[in-house]
Amino acid sequence: MDVLTPFFQPKIAVLISEGKYFECVQKLAQKLQVPLYKSPENHPDVDYFLQYQHNVLALIDKNSLKKQGISVNINPRSGEQLSYPAPKKNDLAKAIGRQTKTVIDATTGWGQDALALFRMGYEVECFERSLMMMALLENGFLRLSQEKWVQTRTLIPPKLTQGNAIKLLNTVKIAPDCIYLDPMFPPKRKKSALAKKSIQILQQALGQDDDRQQLFKIAMRVTKKRVVVKSPLYADPLGGKPQMGFKGKLVRYDVYLKS
Ligand SMILES: C[S@@+](CC[C@H](N)C(=O)[O-])C[C@H]1O[C@@H](n2cnc3c(N)ncnc32)[C@H](O)[C@@H]1O
Repeated sequence: MDVLTPFFQPKIAVLISEGKYFECVQKLAQKLQVPLYKSPENHPDVDYFLQYQHNVLALIDKNSLKKQGISVNINPRSGEQLSYPAPKKNDLAKAIGRQTKTVIDATTGWGQDALALFRMGYEVECFERSLMMMALLENGFLRLSQEKWVQTRTLIPPKLTQGNAIKLLNTVKIAPDCIYLDPMFPPKRKKSALAKKSIQILQQALGQDDDRQQLFKIAMRVTKKRVVVKSPLYADPLGGKPQMGFKGKLVRYDVYLKS
């Protein structure tokens, strides 16, 4: 496990859950090497708590203890079709390429793009360096594997690997058709419009991904056909002028083809 990656790690604790999740939380605290507490009260040093809410592992911000935590959403996003495979018609699919078969999502985060690609029938593999996000993703992907539509089609959720993609990409044996990057960029202005709560949490908890340029270079070297970078509209393209671009209201997908 890549626990020594030099990037900001928030202070996390796991909360004890009653009943059948007791063993799970003990294992989780051990794996993450974080404390296990009965209640979130009286632990001012902790930034985030991980807690099982029934079978869903949720992340709870210490400043929003009364609110429901955030977890990996395994349902289609608004505007996406419920059928499988979902049509490859949005900007994400256009950028990834309709002929593309295999994709490595090197910056999985909450897994929302990776899961959208999985629902569209792409063969997806996921890398994520944050141990906290990894625990949330593992729980989300486990829940996904238990969904009826996944089981009846004998589908297997994307493989998850914890670690820094800059290192992991060097170990890839079969080059994927596409490597997808969605690193965190610094906000344009301090008072710019707030990102979605789930992304705000990532920004607060993990900081900016300042090594994104290095990640892009490795991705270009390793990919078979293309690298797709998702970025805010204000950000400069990560690899200079892309060969193709798909621009939405808030984000842009820059496509770099391998010559
Ligand atoms: C903006 S989020 C990605 C959101 C994701 N696309 C989604 O749909 O939920 C960026 C994530 O990439 C991860 N990340 C950034 N650089 C990475 C690297 N070099 N290796 C592995 N994970 C990385 C961060 O830890 C963070 O969780």
